[in-house]
Amino acid sequence: MSSNEPFRIAALAGDGIGPEVMREALKVLRVVESKYALKLDISEAPVGWAGIDAAGSALPEATLALCKRSDCILFGSVGLPARDATIPKDQRPERAALLRLRREFGLFANLRPVRLYAELAHACPLAKDRQGAGIDVLVVRELTGGLYFGQPKLTETLADGTQRAIDTMVYTTPEIERIAHVAFRAAKLRRSRVCSIDKANVLENGVLWREVVTRIGHQYPGVSLEHMFVDNGAMQLMLRPTQFDVILCENLFGDILSDEAAALAGSLGMLPSASLGATTGARTFGFYEPAGGTAPDIAGKDLANPIAQILSCALMLRHTFRSDTAATAIETAVARVIAQGLRTGDIFSALDTAAQRTGTNGMGDAIAAEI
Ligand code: IPM
Ligand code: MG
Repeated sequence: MSSNEPFRIAALAGDGIGPEVMREALKVLRVVESKYALKLDISEAPVGWAGIDAAGSALPEATLALCKRSDCILFGSVGLPARDATIPKDQRPERAALLRLRREFGLFANLRPVRLYAELAHACPLAKDRQGAGIDVLVVRELTGGLYFGQPKLTETLADGTQRAIDTMVYTTPEIERIAHVAFRAAKLRRSRVCSIDKANVLENGVLWREVVTRIGHQYPGVSLEHMFVDNGAMQLMLRPTQFDVILCENLFGDILSDEAAALAGSLGMLPSASLGATTGARTFGFYEPAGGTAPDIAGKDLANPIAQILSCALMLRHTFRSDTAATAIETAVARVIAQGLRTGDIFSALDTAAQRTGTNGMGDAIAAEI
């Protein structure tokens, strides 16, 4: 692929605060585009309830087709609890759009960087002495295996009328190998430590997971590897989060631990995430989304924090388009704006005399201007 081919981005804003944080992200991307002479080809399409309302499906055919001819998906968030309950579970946005896209594009590697900015120490639920010199953890979560997709997966009624639900946890060696490589490679670019999470004392999956991760670890002599049972890992994350660099886990453990880790950053509104597939050619297909949800209670009020969506653009530039300079420019601009004291409601503290409150739009403008 020649380097002057445009970056094809499918922007799916979705529901709730999705459209307003996406607006700020696109604003920032346009500034980055001109500053770094990139060529962005951004197309927007409906997903989630926006998709159901526009075309009768949480993932309309036209939206899926757009994703297929793009290099990546910049995603907002989907689902509105009050409306989700009114339709069958298989048609609800989380399953019909989010899980379907993960599966469809083979997005097996989910990267969730959790960083507590020094200026936001007050928003962290842990006492200052537990925050050490700062919290900076990368959760690497396997995203297309385990209990989420294992077969059989069903609810059945037995002869005596009892209902039985079955979810199956399945992992194969190649599935564990490829996610382990992602974690070790990421650790090399960070502080060279991987903590692999499992339940090897109880689950067959845990035994295999530990065995395979250990074997792959031998290929990365510069990276230290430690194993933790998931229950202890959850506790350690609260007691001493600074001991972690990269946390590697299977799908469900990663779902749980990444939310726990996210709490440490003070607000979900600060956290981006990347879900990556296999690399074919020069570009890795990726799906980039904020860690938080649709937050319908604050939607449309200029209250949402757009930083997670904006930082997701940085991950997109880095992982799919290999534009590290542009990605770093966004991250630096965000850090500067935080350092200057600008705060949306979720990270505002009246005790912080340097803090200045702003809205979704104001935050986006400030970050764009900083770039
Ligand atoms: C996440 C979410 C999803 C998951 C839900 C919405 C299906 O919690 O991305 O962590 O469980 O993977
Ligand atoms: Mg989750």
